[in-house]
Amino acid sequence: MRKKIVAGNWKMNKNFEEGMALTSEVVNMVKDEVSHEKVTVILIPPFVHVHPVAALAKGTPVLVGAQNCHQEANGAYTGEISAGMIKSCGATHIILGHSERRMYFGETNALLASKVNTVLSNGLTAIYCCGETLEQRNANKHFEVIESQVKEGLFHLDAEQMKQIVIAYEPVWAIGTGVTASTQQAQEVHAFIRQLLVAKYGKDTAESVCILYGGSVKPDNAAELFSQSDIDGGLIGGAALQSRSFVDIAKAC
Ligand code: 13P
Repeated sequence: MRKKIVAGNWKMNKNFEEGMALTSEVVNMVKDEVSHEKVTVILIPPFVHVHPVAALAKGTPVLVGAQNCHQEANGAYTGEISAGMIKSCGATHIILGHSERRMYFGETNALLASKVNTVLSNGLTAIYCCGETLEQRNANKHFEVIESQVKEGLFHLDAEQMKQIVIAYEPVWAIGTGVTASTQQAQEVHAFIRQLLVAKYGKDTAESVCILYGGSVKPDNAAELFSQSDIDGGLIGGAALQSRSFVDIAKAC
């Protein structure tokens, strides 16, 4: 049985004071209300908050991640952040290939494949995002798009490395729109991704990889989504900016 994951991607939100307040609230609520056997809760703040958030979460079951990293270990890349720096600040997970990074910052599958390598070589877990635009879904190209994102970003890995990957399916048309993929639409894509993993790595490895759903997950739709056999939790945007709604989503696991 895969343990579920509920990760809160704050994106570019929360100043220092707000971020610390949100972290303290979530950490306290998770301690009191969430079953740690069932779900791993991860906070993914902007880079500047990673260290203080990790300090507040230290010694609790709450883990911390970052939203991106550079593909190189260090060097003359002004304004960039390496996976090693993120690790040294107490994080365990790094999101890669979020659709906002792909869309606004031109991140390609090939670039992401090298970012995956740097994350894994630091002993961290990559949360690798994939998902189609509305146009691609309407043209019935969603499976094709997702297949190439997954294969080109991840399939250079061996089976042991693949076990260090979490995949997040985030249909672009469902992000921040209030429109969630139906439970059937989400499960269908998750099962498709799982089949790609089975074909490449075999059943054992495929069954060990968590596949999260992201896109307008809220407390009132989380339980149904998470009840599906291939949906192993969620990557939460808007609803992660408020402690009550985020923790209620974790409790839906
Ligand atoms: P929303 O939950 O705001 O739709 O965002 C989802 C997301 O992009 C998480 O990474």
